[in-house]
Order: sequence, then structure tokens, then C-alpha cells
Amino acid sequence: MKISSPTVARMLGTWQEGPGPAHQRLSDRLRLLVLDGRLSLGATLPSERDLATALGTSRTTVGAAYRTLVEHGYLATRERARATVRLPRDTPAERPAGTDPATIDLSFAAPPAPVEILHAAFAAALEQLPRHFERHGYDRYGISELREAVADRYGRRGLPTAADHVMITNGAQHALGLLARTLLSPGDKVVIDHPTYPHAIRTFTQARARLLPVAVGASGWDVGQLHTAGRAAQLAYLIPDFHNPTGLCMSTDVRRRLRPACPTIVDETMADLALDGAAPEPFAVHMPTAVSVGSVSKSIWGGLRIGWIRAVPALLERLAQARPATDLGTPVVEQLAAAVLLNERRSPGPDTLEQLRSQRHALGQALTEYLPDVRAPRPAGGVALWAMFPEPVSSRLAAIAPDYGVAVAAGPRFGIGGAFERHIRLPYTLPPGRLTEAVRRLARAQQALARGAAGTHTPAPVA
Ligand SMILES: Cc1ncc(COP(=O)(O)O)c(C=O)c1O
Repeated sequence: MKISSPTVARMLGTWQEGPGPAHQRLSDRLRLLVLDGRLSLGATLPSERDLATALGTSRTTVGAAYRTLVEHGYLATRERARATVRLPRDTPAERPAGTDPATIDLSFAAPPAPVEILHAAFAAALEQLPRHFERHGYDRYGISELREAVADRYGRRGLPTAADHVMITNGAQHALGLLARTLLSPGDKVVIDHPTYPHAIRTFTQARARLLPVAVGASGWDVGQLHTAGRAAQLAYLIPDFHNPTGLCMSTDVRRRLRPACPTIVDETMADLALDGAAPEPFAVHMPTAVSVGSVSKSIWGGLRIGWIRAVPALLERLAQARPATDLGTPVVEQLAAAVLLNERRSPGPDTLEQLRSQRHALGQALTEYLPDVRAPRPAGGVALWAMFPEPVSSRLAAIAPDYGVAVAAGPRFGIGGAFERHIRLPYTLPPGRLTEAVRRLARAQQALARGAAGTHTPAPVA
């Protein structure tokens, strides 16, 4: 597939801003677009001349950026043919940042497993497993034990829910993919928070939807803008609870007033991680037509790969019909363990939440000490700070940081059109000492960048 120069220019957005030579900024940005799947593998890039014209820059700049990408394995070139997108092979030099054990990985915003609780849940799950042996084990809606446990959880949180309004999925990401494939046609418009969760951007882009970003600013969501965008769209995707990446929580007043004209998916993956005050009510308390997506990945453990969709049975039937194209159900043992955990209500326990609070504090302190110019408002929940640097350095800093022993997710991965070049998401999911060390390393990387150092690393994957 050929990608036109105006399309690439649109994806790159404001790439000119920031320190260092223009060709490095350009190659860093292109590399992020490849890693996020926005420039798909095998896609043919515009010629150096066309892209230079579209970007209003010199052909030398584009040529140098392309050469860097070829050198690092992101572009393949043949004589007289346009460059095509590829991924580097897994050689040590080309391994993504964060995979070196000495590197502190801040690219994943997910807590470790609660070991003992998880062990006990799997022991209980194995005991219950034999009662499933008589059946074939394929279940597109999920096992009844877990559907009921999820429904009860909504009930306890103030939203009475019947088990037939719940479908179990392989994590929230799978739920989003399934919803996108079922609800969207190519060219449909999807309202998204801006910034938003990177893999949601990827999901909707791969469904060939057009994204309508609505800013989530320091004070949160703007009902008027969401309504305007919603009138032009076929779908809205919002993260009202401890939003990834800003950590903001939508106020009750906004929840009450918000009525987008299009179907609305709310991603409540972070709902259980209220650190100051009570957890928010489920969004569908205020908007019963909302399609809710949930997960145990942040409240229990991402490795379980258990999530769900809460929606009317008619929509779940459509999803169940679409599901076999990609998968035939969710593993039974994991579902039984998740049901045990949800019913026991032990995770996230007070210890986990207290640990997150102290890690959030340690990260804030380390920023004050080592990166005093960085502003990072303290979120009321979730697992990350959305740190703002005084300069648009994010992509360059993410590229160079692994040389200083830390991997981070650059701000533009959370937006479209190259936005958020001043931001970096910093999760507080590691012990305080590691977080302090990570920030110290990031500060050293920032100083090196200011001195003109160039990074060579493949940005880490994000979650
Ligand atoms: C907002 C949001 N939605 C979905 C996911 C994916 O969750 P899961 O691990 O359940 O697929 C994440 C993970 O980081 C997330 O932050």
C-alpha cells in the first residue's frame, strides 16, 4: 500500500519542534509511527522529494531521516523503488528499549501480580475446573460463574446488572477490537479523548475509522465539544475513570450532562484504582445506553488476560457472531480464577492501594528533586503521572533514555498528528527506590539531550 505525502505529513504533525537536528526529530517520529502500527508493515513511503515538499523541509533532511531508519531496520530500500516499512530483526542492538534487564522499564503502566492472592485463586479454580470437563469448553460469552461475578460487581457499585448483559473477553483490548470490528465501517468517525490510550488509537485506525480528537485538558472533559464531535461521529470512545494517560477522573456533573449523539464506549479499565477518595460510579449509572468495557488487568493482573463488555444482549449477540473470526473464547481456568478473585473482593486490597500511593509520592518527590522544571499533576487514581516538560523533547528523550538505563513512553504515542511532544507518561508501578533511580536516569538523559546527544534505540512497546 502506498501512503501519500500529505497523509504522512498529517501523521507527523508538529515534528519540527524540539531540540536536535531536524532529520533526527523526523526519523524519531517516523519510527514511533511504525511502532504504533500507524505506518503499517510493507507500506510504501513517499519519495524523499514528495515528503520534503509536503513537510516544507529540505530533501536532505528527509534523505537523512530515511537513511537512519534504514540503518536501524525500519525501512527497506531497493534500487529505483520507494522505501517500504519493516521492523528490525531481534538482534541485541535492535532489541526494543526496556528488554535489557538493566533498564528500568517505565513504558508499561501496569502493577505486578498480588502473588499469594493469585496463587490461592488458581488453586480454587483448579478444584472447580472438573465441572466444566463435560462440555466442549468453547464459550463465546464466557462461563456463567464469571459473567455472574462481573454482573455482581456492577451491582455492588450501584449499577444493577444481569449476567446476560456481560460478555467475557481476553482483556479490555480484545473487547475494543471486537467492538470496533462489529460497530465500525471504513471511513466512520470515532470521537476519542485526546490524549488517549495508544492501543485504542491503533484499534480504530486499523478498522479504517477517522479519529475526531477532543481535548482532555487540565480540568478534564468539555461536554460541549464532546456533543459537537458526537453529532458528526458514528462512535465515541472515552476513558472516564483515571484516564490513561492523564489519570483524570470525569466529574459526576459531566457524567450527568454528557449525552453524545453517537453510541459510546466507556473504558473503565482503571475504575478500581481510586487512590484519594471513593471509586467513581459506573458510567452507565448516568448513561444507561453506554457500552462499558472493563478488565482485571490493573486491579489484579494483566497476565490473566480477562476483560469484559457490559451491553444489551442484542449487541452481545452481534459481538458473539463476529467473535469466531479472531478467537473462540477465553481460557476456562483463568475465568474461574478471575471469578474467585472478583467474588472475594480482595484485589486491589488496601495494601496494594497504599503501595501505589507511596509510589506516586516517591515519583513526585523524585521529579521535584531531579527534574524540577517538569510539571506532573497528582492524579486521584490510576497508575501514572502525565509529566509535562518545558520543551517539546518527548520523542527525542524516549529515544535516548535507554542509553541512560530507563525506558519511557513518548507523549505523541497517546495522540494523533504528533501532539503531546512535551509530555511523557510516567507510571508509578515500581518500588519507590526504582522510581527515584529511574527519574535520576531520565534527568541525565535530558541533560545529555541538551548537550546534543543522539539516541539510537527502538522505543519500547506501551500498555
Ligand atoms: C485504558 C486502557 N484500556 C485498555 C487497556 C488494555 O487492558 P487489557 O490488559 O485488559 O487488555 C489498557 C491497558 O493499559 C488501558 O490502559
